[in-house]
Amino acid sequence: MSERTLVLIKPDGVARGLVGEVVARIERRGLKLVALELKNVADDLAAKHYAEHEGKPFYQSLLDFITSGPLVAAVVEGPRAVGAFRQIAGGTDPVDKAAPGSIRGDFALEVQENIVHGSDSAESAAREIELWFPGLS
Ligand code: CMP
Repeated sequence: MSERTLVLIKPDGVARGLVGEVVARIERRGLKLVALELKNVADDLAAKHYAEHEGKPFYQSLLDFITSGPLVAAVVEGPRAVGAFRQIAGGTDPVDKAAPGSIRGDFALEVQENIVHGSDSAESAAREIELWFPGLS
């Protein structure tokens, strides 16, 4: 069964010219883009997106980072898209968790500046897609 996930190519990924690389990996895997937008993120959208991290020590720095420059937001669709994109991305910590061959394992060194975000469940995906692409059919 097909599902959707929200992907962000974060400001570090855009600044480093990795948009094409990330999109190519998504498409090569067989996942389809159903929405794609370059955006400068307002503070309130960033806060809503990362609401579950409020109160954590890295919360403010996460908001500062995600609003620091343009990012690319995308909706990606395919069979088990949430898990498939998380596998392509690699674990959150690029050194301890992300395998070589994954986006983070190949391109990142820091847990905050880790190139991409992918929804962590189908429920998060539905919430995040409505936040980033309201009314997308
Ligand atoms: P993301 O998938 O966007 O979801 C939350 C983000 O918080 C995560 O990727 C990391 O970029 C960031 N993050 C998680 N843990 C830490 C941490 N210990 N320090 C700084 N940033 C973190």
